[in-house]
Amino acid sequence: MIKKSFNFHMPTKVVFEDSAIDGLRKHVKGNSLLMMCDPYLYKIGTAQKVANATHIDKVVFFHEIEPNPSGQTVDKAVEIARSNQVDVVIGLGGGSAMDASKMVACLIENEGSIFDYYSIGNKVLRPRKAQLICIPTTAGTGSEVTNIGVYNNKETGIKMPFASEYFWPDIALIDPSLSHTMPSHITASTGMDAFTHAIESYWSVNSNPISDALSVSVMKTILENIEIACKEPTNAAARRNMAFASVTAGISFSQTKTTGIHVVSYPLTTDFGASHGLACSITLPAFIKLVYNGYQDKMDGLFAILGYDCLDAFVSRIEEIMEAIKLPTRLSALNIKESDLKGIAEVSMKVPAIHFTPVKVDEGILYHLLKSIL
Ligand SMILES: [Fe+2]
Repeated sequence: MIKKSFNFHMPTKVVFEDSAIDGLRKHVKGNSLLMMCDPYLYKIGTAQKVANATHIDKVVFFHEIEPNPSGQTVDKAVEIARSNQVDVVIGLGGGSAMDASKMVACLIENEGSIFDYYSIGNKVLRPRKAQLICIPTTAGTGSEVTNIGVYNNKETGIKMPFASEYFWPDIALIDPSLSHTMPSHITASTGMDAFTHAIESYWSVNSNPISDALSVSVMKTILENIEIACKEPTNAAARRNMAFASVTAGISFSQTKTTGIHVVSYPLTTDFGASHGLACSITLPAFIKLVYNGYQDKMDGLFAILGYDCLDAFVSRIEEIMEAIKLPTRLSALNIKESDLKGIAEVSMKVPAIHFTPVKVDEGILYHLLKSIL
């Protein structure tokens, strides 16, 4: 049944094209560029290639972005941006670089540190003036089309999402050919990250008919393409399909936010070293089962559209794909022990997005869910 009332707001211009980097110049509006990426993309020359494509003379590189970017790293990049009077910020890479670029682009015009803004009741961001362009090199995070960034505080060890109206990139430039060199294990984990974005958006209490339609399309595309993209890295069609799925899942969850899977993934990344995609996919089958008990009608609708006749058939297919693309389905693969589970459940319950899950979730329920996949 269609909701009586909903809205959908996604102001980012999406440019999707093989070799889109070659046309970057026509989208850029500024004279002083900060190019943000991880050390690897800088080392192999991708960052330089993208910077050259802007045709901006004044370029400064910040290539210290780490996985799960910290507020401390963001502050360091902000200092460089301010001292160079940067008016264009490009976030190039996976979610870490793009998330960091959003906050940096905003803080150029806002005094102080990320930590002055990064908790409820603190300072409120003023509008961003610098142009923000996000260019993904993986296919999964969808950060290029969301107004959300996730940051880690190195001192407290707490990783939390932050959303702002000024975080929407001006341009999301998706060039599927950039993902051809992505290793198989990253293709697998980032691709399943996109799958969790889609299914969480579908079952989120904030879902709406447009996000539902996008999410269903994404799940179908990923189920049909992720194994091919992992096994045949230069298969242009599979890469393009996965890039499309990633950006579409991002647009969908930008409206609905993610739910329990992502919330639980945060301690799995910060405390147990899992990559973001792995930390999300590892609890996916268990969360599908949890949500099904209490949200059966909508989930049965999903299974029917995707061609599965019941919960078990759908979950079995996902587990089969995860095994084929070498993603673990047991927490013991992350060296997590039973004695760790209470802490994971406890910290997860502190993140407000846990309540976007459409069924009852409390510390005890999370503990049993985690124990079932130990
Ligand atoms: Fe994610």
